[in-house]
Amino acid sequence: MHWFTTLTAAVAFAGSAAFAHPEPGVSPRQAATPIPSSCPGVTARTQYRLSAATGWKYALVASGLTKPRGVLFDTAGHLLVLEAGKGLTAHTIGSDGCISSSKTVIATSQLNHGLALSPDGKTVYVSAPGTAWSFDYDATTQTATNQKVIVKDMYPGGHSTRTLAVPPNNPNLLIVSLGSNGNIDSPTEKKETGRAIVKVFDLSKTPSGGYSYNTQGWYLGYGLRNEIAIVFDGNNEVWGVENSGDQLARTVNGRSVDVHIDNPAEELNYLGDPSKSNENWYGYPTCWTIGPGGTSVFADKAFKVGQQFVQAPNTTFNDDSCAQKSVPPRLAIQAHSAPIDGKFDKEFANMYVSLHGSWNRQPATGYKVIQIPFTTLNDSRYDPVASQDTVNGYSDILWTQNEGSCSGNTCLRPTGIAWHPDFSRMYVASDGSVGELYILYKA
Ligand SMILES: *[C@@H]1O[C@H](CO)[C@@H](O)[C@H](O)[C@H]1NC(C)=O
Ligand SMILES: *[C@@H]1O[C@H](CO)[C@@H](O)[C@H](O)[C@H]1NC(C)=O
Repeated sequence: MHWFTTLTAAVAFAGSAAFAHPEPGVSPRQAATPIPSSCPGVTARTQYRLSAATGWKYALVASGLTKPRGVLFDTAGHLLVLEAGKGLTAHTIGSDGCISSSKTVIATSQLNHGLALSPDGKTVYVSAPGTAWSFDYDATTQTATNQKVIVKDMYPGGHSTRTLAVPPNNPNLLIVSLGSNGNIDSPTEKKETGRAIVKVFDLSKTPSGGYSYNTQGWYLGYGLRNEIAIVFDGNNEVWGVENSGDQLARTVNGRSVDVHIDNPAEELNYLGDPSKSNENWYGYPTCWTIGPGGTSVFADKAFKVGQQFVQAPNTTFNDDSCAQKSVPPRLAIQAHSAPIDGKFDKEFANMYVSLHGSWNRQPATGYKVIQIPFTTLNDSRYDPVASQDTVNGYSDILWTQNEGSCSGNTCLRPTGIAWHPDFSRMYVASDGSVGELYILYKA
């Protein structure tokens, strides 16, 4: 009787709250925030010009940020930005759709990439190369208190981003991705090395002083060179987008051929349900993926895009060994694009991925945001529309004009992506020589 009354009251409350708030956590005023075509005092740099796909528009809404990486919205509608080398900042969207005020939430130069929020918005997670911390977060005052170490003893060097993610349906799981030490990190053949892996930690049982990364938690795949983008689909299952290798060659019968311009593919990998251990090997540091445009350079074998190859086949390990032992990516992305973040749209019909841009390819590539169409399978799993061997399984929606001549920080350098809570626009950070924030919207 008692719980029945309580349940009825809870349903009634949820019903009226839903009526008052068209989107969870967003007041009607925020939901109606206009999309600015430009913002006062924010001018585009002249070094590069952007283009957007038909049906899309963009606007620059902030400039002068310090290496913005992770971005997300808090429950009060502020945009949180992890500024590498500076800390965590909160930005209020004004009535004109531009940023009306900014505040430093956590000031420390140690933070360099990772940013996640608990589903209730009351705990924020941030990372440095060696450590991940939690703070109690108050969205009303934009303050962070009660700092705790959640994960410690991570390898502090090599690829240094430590992407953090909490599944929207499970506040007790923290996913932490840790890339390789350099291009080919041979010891990571063993997952216990603690690199080129994704791990998951149970936040309801965090030991005092934090988890030790290498020896605690469970795996969400290994042999993952540098899975910077960790993305949840509509079933709260995890997709990783991987930064693959540089300067690869194929050696057959003692003859070495440079294959690096369009190989290996950057990878879209299905990592699965984060509440369960996934000890599958995804190929690194031995099996690499044929990239779009990358087949013809292999004179010794007719590969398809998406298949995996070894640099130097021998009698004990060759391409067939990869096919037997390694999980290939679900989709191959242009080599050297450098994916940083990914987010699905509201309907889970497309995944948007930021491609930071290349150093190991001439002409240069990346410096753009792409859209990967997804579909739902008859077992209700989400899956890319394109088949595994597709050359063009995605399309560009925002890109730097003349991307082939980009070098380093002269072009758009897209990093973190966050949808506005009402899904009217996507915020895309760029950490080039000037830290910027764009909005990207359908129009
Ligand atoms: C054969 O190739 C594998 C994978 O690249 C390597 O680990 C192994 O050392 C190689 N064996 C010989 C005899 O070269
Ligand atoms: C689901 O799709 C697969 C592949 O198209 C098909 O073989 C299978 O019969 C389908 N299952 C159901 C329950 O419709």
